[in-house]
Amino acid sequence: MKVNRRIINLVVTGFSGAGKSLVSKEVARRLDWGFLDTDDEIVEQVGKPIAAVFREDGEGRFRELERETIRKACQRRQTVIAIGGGAIVDPRNYELLAKNGLIVCLEAKPETIYERLFSEGACDPETEVRPLLATDNPLERIRQLKASRQPYYAKADWTIHTDGLSISEVAKEVIRAWRLLGRAHPHPHPHLTHLPPGERKSSRELNAGDDAACVVETETETYPIYVGYGLLDKLGEKMKQAALSGTATVISDGNVFSLYGSKVEQVLKDAGFGANSFVVPPGEETKSVSSAVKIYDFLVKYRTERDDIIVALGGGMVGDLAGFVAATFLRGMPWVQVPTSLVAMVDAGIGGKVGVNHPEGKNLIGAFYQPNLVLSDCETLTTLPERELTSGWAEVIKYGLILDKELFEFLENNVSKLTKLEPHLLTRAIARSAAIKARVVSQDEKERIGKRTILNYGHTIGHGLETATQYRRFLHGEAVAIGMMGAARLSQRLGLLPSEAVERQQALLERLGLPISLRAETVDRRRGKKGSGRELGLVAITRAMELDKKVKGKAIHWVLLEDIGKAVIRSDVPRGDVLAVLRELTKR
Ligand SMILES: NC(=O)c1ccc[n+]([C@@H]2O[C@H](COP(=O)([O-])OP(=O)(O)OC[C@H]3O[C@@H](n4cnc5c(N)ncnc54)[C@H](O)[C@@H]3O)[C@@H](O)[C@H]2O)c1
Ligand SMILES: [Zn+2]
Repeated sequence: MKVNRRIINLVVTGFSGAGKSLVSKEVARRLDWGFLDTDDEIVEQVGKPIAAVFREDGEGRFRELERETIRKACQRRQTVIAIGGGAIVDPRNYELLAKNGLIVCLEAKPETIYERLFSEGACDPETEVRPLLATDNPLERIRQLKASRQPYYAKADWTIHTDGLSISEVAKEVIRAWRLLGRAHPHPHPHLTHLPPGERKSSRELNAGDDAACVVETETETYPIYVGYGLLDKLGEKMKQAALSGTATVISDGNVFSLYGSKVEQVLKDAGFGANSFVVPPGEETKSVSSAVKIYDFLVKYRTERDDIIVALGGGMVGDLAGFVAATFLRGMPWVQVPTSLVAMVDAGIGGKVGVNHPEGKNLIGAFYQPNLVLSDCETLTTLPERELTSGWAEVIKYGLILDKELFEFLENNVSKLTKLEPHLLTRAIARSAAIKARVVSQDEKERIGKRTILNYGHTIGHGLETATQYRRFLHGEAVAIGMMGAARLSQRLGLLPSEAVERQQALLERLGLPISLRAETVDRRRGKKGSGRELGLVAITRAMELDKKVKGKAIHWVLLEDIGKAVIRSDVPRGDVLAVLRELTKR
């Protein structure tokens, strides 16, 4: 079942004897949330047991008190609310509760309920159901009363059959329901979550630095993205806030693990998680089915359960691979992204696209599987190799160009501080980029309605270059930078974009150290050798572009610019113009 609303509380309903109160208390303890039992509240307020209210004041009065208590309870946040078994019958209560929480119903057979209520030492003696069950044949009465309430219980978001389960087992199920249906960011920053594309954004947004930068809100999932400097220390705490518990398996590559592995393990242990680690070799070749199989073997060996957690610690390669394992092991387990490269912080780590490569093509095997949270510690970028960092800036500039003039200008004004990784400005640039990607993804989680297409600015030519050079010559961001120059020139040729804007784009790319053309003197960047742009050949590039998966039918969907911060999609671009632009890019 899909729940599209924001979940701020958990409401536990069900017939008396289903264990609502004890289970709710246990759930609250595990989530570190508040707890409230509406029956207890009423007893406290009137100073007498529920049975006495029924006897002395009548059921009508009791329902009135109950309604008022529920109204107050709904003003709370992060509270597990156990409600009386008959409360949900009143549509006013139901509406309010449904608006303010995820409703979980605890089910049990009448015999189980009878046993729980009437056996010796049974708890719950004062609930409202006791007076209603005061008959010669309580079991029969339970059957009737329960049957009459069943249609109302059926309106719950989730039902758990509790017969034969312990309190703690039921509590775990409630938390699982909450994770599946209503994972909510505990402290949402609404000013960052609802930014209509292309609209001017407030400066508050650019200041969103130290805590959650934004929230991804897709049809099925809601989760926070934290961006900050030195944030790694808070990983365990944030994971607990996201209701995660159990053992975390950290998946990382050798480079990143040697720098941050032991710290992350310690932070997890300090927060009460079990911690295992699996380290893979660095490099794109590792993003394969065979690596995934090795990780599955490890998870099986350590008896990893469905409620345990995968933590992806690394760049986009690790994120894609670990996410793919999380999506598939035990049909999906919770996972956390801890991106450590700029590409991963602003792009790969956001959006839930996970996968591995096939020898015949990159990312051919994969899924959409959103993490439970993303935590980017910008401080980790201080150890990222320079060229990787530079490559990441291409995607940041891209966000400015397609959707966010303010971000573009912010980059123009702060290049030198940003390249020196000045903590505050760096955090702002990354938080803003992450928020833009999150917003686009939230609108088009599975690339169905074309909203994500806009993210392909510079990528049509960029992918063509990568493919034509067998992914050996350019890092992705370098190819995208050249591709963006192509797309800007194409926009200019078609009379969409003034030349000043093209020049501004070029200047910013150059200042951040990115290539802007394929001229002959271009260094073969990966091998450190000189290579020739001409050698690459227009034919090879165009063929690769036309084979690219972004091509639907025959027409290429070009993402072009009308202005800085304003992208348009065109599928009627004449081939002659494309070739002319590519020729310009390779001109000496
Ligand atoms: N899922 C998506 O939406 C998406 C989007 C873009 C890219 N990707 C994928 O992401 C991958 C590229 O990501 P990437 O550029 O991060 O590559 P990467 O993960 O290979 O990392 C690049 C290099 O930097 C090292 N590294 C990472 N963080 C470091 C740190 N803090 N200190 C020192 N070294 C560090 C890594 O060990 C690696 O050698 C590709 O596989 C690509 O397909 C996925
Ligand atoms: Zn990209």
